[in-house]
Amino acid sequence: MVIKNAHVLINGKLERLDIRILNGYINSLSKSIVPSDGEEVIDFSGKIITPGFVNTHTHVGMSVLRGYAEDIPFNTWLFERILPAEERLTPEAIYYGSLVSMMEMASHGVVAFCDMYFHEEMVAQAVADFGMKAVITRGLVDSNGDDNGRLDENIKLYEKWHGYDDRIYVGLGPHAPYSCSREYLMRILDIAKTNDMLVTMHFFENTWEYDRYSPEEIINLGFDKVHFIPVHCTQLKTEHLDLLKSSYPSINTVSNMKLGNGMPRIMDMLRKNIKITIGTDGPASNNSQNVLFDLRTSILSQKMRAPENFNTFEAFNAITKNGYEALRLLGGEIAVGMPADLVIFNSNHIQLQPKHKFLENLIHSFTDSVYATMVNGKFIYIDGKYPTIDAEEVLSKFSIFSKKVTGIES
Ligand code: NI
Repeated sequence: MVIKNAHVLINGKLERLDIRILNGYINSLSKSIVPSDGEEVIDFSGKIITPGFVNTHTHVGMSVLRGYAEDIPFNTWLFERILPAEERLTPEAIYYGSLVSMMEMASHGVVAFCDMYFHEEMVAQAVADFGMKAVITRGLVDSNGDDNGRLDENIKLYEKWHGYDDRIYVGLGPHAPYSCSREYLMRILDIAKTNDMLVTMHFFENTWEYDRYSPEEIINLGFDKVHFIPVHCTQLKTEHLDLLKSSYPSINTVSNMKLGNGMPRIMDMLRKNIKITIGTDGPASNNSQNVLFDLRTSILSQKMRAPENFNTFEAFNAITKNGYEALRLLGGEIAVGMPADLVIFNSNHIQLQPKHKFLENLIHSFTDSVYATMVNGKFIYIDGKYPTIDAEEVLSKFSIFSKKVTGIES
């Protein structure tokens, strides 16, 4: 496939370039590419192309619970509303919930995400069918050393799905230090080291976590020796941030604000050259899966103290290069040899004017759906449509399962 006449975002600047895509990768990139006989040609005059965006923390299946628990404190939200409703989740509900979250993400330029939940085999199936990229992890929780087979499930998931179609990878997802015993965390870390698996965990989201342990105690179990995405980090103090030097914190500002869990020390992390990334968290606590909205909220939360904080370059990196690195995927920029994970915008979109300030407009102004999103050279969203699925059927099944899970008779 050859894309002609597009304006391509490279190092923050737009360049008029043609792109040849071969076997899902960017094969060449130059002012003028002459298509070979039989090669598909797409004219993207009037379009702007950027690298795809990455959402480093979510629970995609939770879209069936969107709007279900609002305006209540975190502990009530989690222990009295979400956990009981989760008892009613079925594999089918997770499958359709995952598809709906991915539809929303794709319409906002997200090409890859990191997930932690249960029935993850259905999340994997949904990712396989939809065409996105993901690192999936089984949420791991134990009680007095008994985890009900969750870790075995996570390992089976790894054996079955890790590396599928160069799109699906499996990591380990200890839920949080407060829901896992020390011994269990050490077992998980051992498995992560042996198999070189990514680990992600909710980390110091609440002040009461300090009653049980310190951040040092947890990291020193070995989280600094594995590829680690700590999520939230809202309650970490500046002196703890050196513990995260080799990790990729997932900043979930919207979820943190909505559930009253405070703000992570984003500027301190940036000053320490910690590679921050952006996550939406699940649709039951955000409630959107539009990572650009999370990015913008995170930026504004820092600029309210000083407008030079969290600049455009740092912001774009957080959802592109850092996100890819966090998920251990190749990509994050438009260059030869990179996968064709692309987001396409209409350059005439009113929120992207003036055209010569594209990146600033994308970060601070654009709220709409993108024109198209491509993963490994295939469109997963284009001009309001989802070519890989029957959107109408997905939404109708989703609605049935959402009503079942939330206890509303259909
Ligand atoms: Ni979460």
